[in-house]
Amino acid sequence: MSKTSALRVVGADDAANTAIPNDLQAFWMPFTANRAFKARPRMIARAKDMYYYTPEGRQIMDGTAGLWCSNAGHGRDPIVQAIQKQAAELDFSPTFQYGHPKAFELASRIAALAPNDLDHVFFCNSGSEAADTALKIALAYWNVRGKGSKTRLIGRERGYHGVGFGGITVGGIVPNRKFFGTLLAGADHLPHTYNRAEQAFSKGEPEWGAHLADDLERIVALHDASTIAAVIVEPMAGSTGVLPAPKGYLKRLRELCDKHDILLIFDEVITGFGRLGAPFASERYGVTPDIITFAKGVTNAVAPMGGVIARKNIYDTFMTGPEHVVELFHGYTYSAHPLACAAGLATLDLYRDEGLFERSKALEPVWADAVFSAWRDIPGVLDIRQVGLTAAVDFEPNKGGVGKRGFECIDRAFHDEGLMIRTAGDTIAVTPPLIVTEAQIGELTEKVARVIKATA
Ligand SMILES: Cc1ncc(COP(=O)(O)O)c(C=O)c1O
Repeated sequence: MSKTSALRVVGADDAANTAIPNDLQAFWMPFTANRAFKARPRMIARAKDMYYYTPEGRQIMDGTAGLWCSNAGHGRDPIVQAIQKQAAELDFSPTFQYGHPKAFELASRIAALAPNDLDHVFFCNSGSEAADTALKIALAYWNVRGKGSKTRLIGRERGYHGVGFGGITVGGIVPNRKFFGTLLAGADHLPHTYNRAEQAFSKGEPEWGAHLADDLERIVALHDASTIAAVIVEPMAGSTGVLPAPKGYLKRLRELCDKHDILLIFDEVITGFGRLGAPFASERYGVTPDIITFAKGVTNAVAPMGGVIARKNIYDTFMTGPEHVVELFHGYTYSAHPLACAAGLATLDLYRDEGLFERSKALEPVWADAVFSAWRDIPGVLDIRQVGLTAAVDFEPNKGGVGKRGFECIDRAFHDEGLMIRTAGDTIAVTPPLIVTEAQIGELTEKVARVIKATA
């Protein structure tokens, strides 16, 4: 019987076509060394609060809030109940030409958390879609304003804006780009903000580096501002290994974008929803971009959701022309999916009721002291970076070559220490849920220290 036959009768003589429950081959895992994983899996079966559990019931501390997203910890009852209720009440309804109340309510709640006049929310399903949506809104905005020559998009080296073609075009992580052709035309990149000689072992935002924003002047001189639509940066570059913005850098970028009439986009997919001790990093830094992208923490990662928050003048620019005509030809079937909206509303309630953004801010000095005291004196440690409830540690490669030690750290942390971490080359990044206790911070940083020492 063919594998694709619609009517399959599975019997003993049909073993070849039967799904094998424990077969790991069919799932082509994302951003994963598939062969190494399948030879020695790190399997997660359930989660509660600060912990994951393997299928055998072994406890794994969540050192990474999943993928920088489970900010309120796992299995939180109010969110679980909200999506159960929502699934029974309204499983799906389109948001093209129709609406459902929770989409509007969630948009209002997010707009209220966002700074200044960032008042309008466009929903999608991931951070990658959020980045592409933001770039498209920027391009369309200039078009509608009659400045259609403003088409260039400026990103930054070492930036990560997801994996769509827009996101990898403005992103600056080499392996995410080099396999995928020539990408979108007309992009350029600011230099990244990391300089170990000047910044090593800075607590919080480094003193050195604000001037790197001035490179935008060089890019403007090269291309002319009349061709540039937008600049997109992460306020803290997470995926590349936690690079906090140097002091004053974002403010300088804002001033230059104003000077040259260029839109400024903050990708807050990681930094949104409390990671840096405020609803958005924009508030921490007192800098208002024109567009913010978000995802991850908006639903505590319980349901996929992303989105874009735009300033009032951007939204208003589109609200012209005949009223029956669609103003922005963009959207996703699952934009503002009812389950994601229900999860989002319950999540924002939880953040508010448990004061998790404030908790994140209050814990930051404890976190900073813990990571520096646990890791600084380990032989071979080259740098520690920390901002908000996030930290990274760089260490020398071992004899396996660049990146091997980082990989060994993931494996050892999981199997020997019961800890989930992230790595980027020979860098470990940790970024726990905002519910982490002081005792758990001590435990987490000690586990990381043992892993670094054991893989030297
Ligand atoms: C800053 C930033 N933008 C975009 C993304 C992409 O998000 P997603 O994986 O949900 O597409 C990420 C993911 O880590 C991110 O850190």
